[in-house]
Amino acid sequence: MKTKMKVRKAVFPAAGLGTRFLPATKSMPKEMLPLVDKPIIQYGVEEALAAGCDQIIIVTGRGKAAIEDHFDQSYELESLLQEKGKSDLLAIVRQISDMIHVAYVRQKQALGLGHAVLMARELVGNEPFAVLLADDVIDGPKPCLKQMVEAFEETQSSIIATQAVDGPMISSYGVIDGKQIKGGKFGGRLFDVKNLVEKPKMEDAPSNQAIIGRYILTPEIFKTLDRTPLGAGGELQLTDGMRLLLKKEKIYGYNFEGVRHDTGDKLGFLKATVEFALKRKDLGKPMREYLKGLKL
Ligand code: UTP
Repeated sequence: MKTKMKVRKAVFPAAGLGTRFLPATKSMPKEMLPLVDKPIIQYGVEEALAAGCDQIIIVTGRGKAAIEDHFDQSYELESLLQEKGKSDLLAIVRQISDMIHVAYVRQKQALGLGHAVLMARELVGNEPFAVLLADDVIDGPKPCLKQMVEAFEETQSSIIATQAVDGPMISSYGVIDGKQIKGGKFGGRLFDVKNLVEKPKMEDAPSNQAIIGRYILTPEIFKTLDRTPLGAGGELQLTDGMRLLLKKEKIYGYNFEGVRHDTGDKLGFLKATVEFALKRKDLGKPMREYLKGLKL
């Protein structure tokens, strides 16, 4: 029997320009925008760790040094906190740098998500890996990537996270054309993907299952990305690469359980901030009172 493949590596493409969040992202990476008090990329990294990935690969570009600093040790800050006896803050700061083994690879030009993933080829090697887009922050009863890893353990095939989007908003997403696998271990959450359609008109959408920023990919994707022609906006699109992959291998969609916040979008970011603050033990109560007091 073939030994089962495990997902140990998680790739975070973080070399995009973040134009939807200008001017904040002019000199600050959008991945470092804080949701309450934690940069959005840290939520993703914690999710990857919870899913069993112990090797984190971050694809960075110009102006992204703050991400590397965040996951590095900060001697000055740590010794200052130690001197002042602020042991609780020291623990928080240390936990971040102790948390993970991170490798960085540079995407010299923002040539698209598919191109960013291709940059991680040597660090990933010949094994399945996860891709997480940090600005999709997902809040669920079980971390989204963990749900997907459990599905991967069964299917041993590439998996795309999806969520149901009804109405005209479907045109803002990549959409899967797939057959729901009813019943079974995953209770109808798994879809057998036949095709992927980028931003269809509402009437042309093959399903209501929109692609969200979590993927598990087999290493075969690198070969297909290598020969994927440039697509929309002159960029190398991951969806185009996956469509080629479909010709060789099975791909599944996984309709995860949880709520996804698009924190790369201003309104999405504000909504996520309110919801995360309301869930916090230290902030929930005063935040709720504040919101109730607003004369809307
Ligand atoms: P987005 O399109 O959401 O990010 O890409 P963006 O381009 O940074 O943001 P906007 O749309 O201009 O506001 C999805 C993910 O892919 C990464 C981004 O950093 C983001 O995490 N990405 C995108 C790259 O790493 N390289 C690219 O060339 C493009």
